[in-house]
Amino acid sequence: MKFDVSRELYQRACRTCPGGIHSNVRKAWHPHPMYYDHGRGSRVWDADGNEFIDYVLARGPLLLGHSPQPVIEAVKRELDRGLMYAGQHELEIAASEKICSLVPCAEMERFAGSGSEAVHGAIRLARAMTGRMKVLRFEGHYHGWFDNEFWNYAPPLETAGPRESPRPLPASKGMSVAEGEHLVICPWNDLALVDATFERHRGEIAAVLTEAIMCNTAGIMPRPGFLEGLRELCTKDGALLIFDEVITGFRVSLGGAQGYFGVTPDLATFAKGMAGGFPVSGIAGRRQYMEAFGDGTVTHSGTYNSSGPNMAATLAAMEMLSADDGALLKHAHAMGQRLMEGIREAGGRLGKDVHIRGVPAVFHVSFNDREEIVDYRTSLARDAAAYDRFWLALQERGIRTVPGGLWFVSTAHTPQDVDQTLAAIGEAMKTV
Ligand SMILES: Cc1ncc(COP(=O)(O)O)c(C=O)c1O
Repeated sequence: MKFDVSRELYQRACRTCPGGIHSNVRKAWHPHPMYYDHGRGSRVWDADGNEFIDYVLARGPLLLGHSPQPVIEAVKRELDRGLMYAGQHELEIAASEKICSLVPCAEMERFAGSGSEAVHGAIRLARAMTGRMKVLRFEGHYHGWFDNEFWNYAPPLETAGPRESPRPLPASKGMSVAEGEHLVICPWNDLALVDATFERHRGEIAAVLTEAIMCNTAGIMPRPGFLEGLRELCTKDGALLIFDEVITGFRVSLGGAQGYFGVTPDLATFAKGMAGGFPVSGIAGRRQYMEAFGDGTVTHSGTYNSSGPNMAATLAAMEMLSADDGALLKHAHAMGQRLMEGIREAGGRLGKDVHIRGVPAVFHVSFNDREEIVDYRTSLARDAAAYDRFWLALQERGIRTVPGGLWFVSTAHTPQDVDQTLAAIGEAMKTV
């Protein structure tokens, strides 16, 4: 496979754009950041004309595949009518109603533009509603890049502090370290430690903020009872439980991870997967808290929030996903299930030590885990170099996946895609 055009574009981009990329998470690609030309359904073509079956899906937003036609048509219709009004329009009501009908915690909902914005809004709301400042959150969780979000994502162990009480560590230079005074960090999946932490900070914690599945670190699932335990501890202490469903929303189930696990948070954030790839996010939650955005007690604003085309995309995506009792999402899960099983089988055939975590529409693959992976620190026990070789061998065979192990599956993937992918996996696995 040749990447000459991509390399030339990268060199050109570097002259006017730092690093040649417009989001720092896009740098970790081989042989250099890649440039793409177009996508359709489950496939994407790069600038050199190489074709890939795409399991990156823009890191989640393309739950319906590339350019889903009903979404594109709805957006086109709206583009001709008007873009935005600094005022209200009916589509945003319909989109909000749809979300509230699907998501268990969503008695009310507000739109924003990105996942980071939505999490920022939820944290502010929780602090305002409880009159407390501390946020309890977990090592290895990614909640966005803002100063109150980008903490303890992948901390070096030399500076991370003891497992039982990790130090708050900003993940970028230039962040306001003052936020660290208000953060309490725990390892994930250890309810006894969370309980003890609540004990130490009785009446001080505004919110527990968590991904309900650790999609951003090794696809780690919650231990049985962990999310239920967080729910109970929050209720007991008067803290709000926030699920960051930016990845899991509408993907893990139509009701998100909260629908999947049957645990209802007070607030939840959504983004990827809710608008067929258009830049839309949402904060949803219980009426008693969300009303504070409405009466002006707590500010949530945004010039671009709920623009006409974005709302058309949201409504069209929601209608596609929920039609026929969620048939499209069931299909994506069936495709993911076949992939997970096929990867396991290929590993078995070749005598490789394969580990798969997550749910079929978003799962994680690793090799040679040295211990059971249940949280950020144990996630370091996987063989990153082996996965890197596997990842590269897949790319060379036309299969595009996220570096590091995460696989996103869309409603557009077909059984033929899966068969072709499994054939490539059989070959790529030999490099492990
Ligand atoms: C769980 C989670 N929360 C928040 C965000 C931030 O969303 P955005 O990149 O849209 O700002 C991400 C992005 O990957 C995410 O995975």
